[in-house]
Amino acid sequence: MKKELNISAIEEGTVIDHIPSDATFKVADILDLKNTKGIISVAANLSSKIMGKKGIIKIEGKYLTQEEADKIAIIAPEATVNMIKDYEVTKKSKVSLPKTLNRIIKCSNPICITNKEKENTLFYVLGKFPLKVKCHYCERQMGRDDIVIV
Ligand code: CTP
Ligand code: ZN
Repeated sequence: MKKELNISAIEEGTVIDHIPSDATFKVADILDLKNTKGIISVAANLSSKIMGKKGIIKIEGKYLTQEEADKIAIIAPEATVNMIKDYEVTKKSKVSLPKTLNRIIKCSNPICITNKEKENTLFYVLGKFPLKVKCHYCERQMGRDDIVIV
């Protein structure tokens, strides 16, 4: 018997697809889903021909802000964001990292002014694959594993 997993199509909202499977719940965490009224489906460990395993998040009635899309680009650089209207995909885009990250991530340097005082964080993206960023204030460089989302 062939078993199939079906996650229902949504009428309108957002489908975040091609999430590296192990980043699925991190992506869910930054999306403020507790305050979303529509149906939310989160699936991980789905087989994908290109990625091996992937995750997918479907959120009815929600569209991503630019800040949310920027955060997803840090956690899941391969992700695709689909906008759905009347059951059709009306827009499909890959997330992309901006050149600067304004108030998006924390500095890992405990004596950085952004951790000592209420200064907003600002980072420059030096490289994307692998991800490398530099703090505007203390010049600390960080990679993917050091990054903590604000
Ligand atoms: N989707 C959905 N509800 C809809 C339409 C699409 O949940 N009403 C989901 C699909 O299940 C898929 C994603 O949105 O996970 C993108 O849909 P589509 O572009 O039709 O699928 P693919 O061609 O497989 O996407 P891609 O080329 O990005 O892999
Ligand atoms: Zn710093």
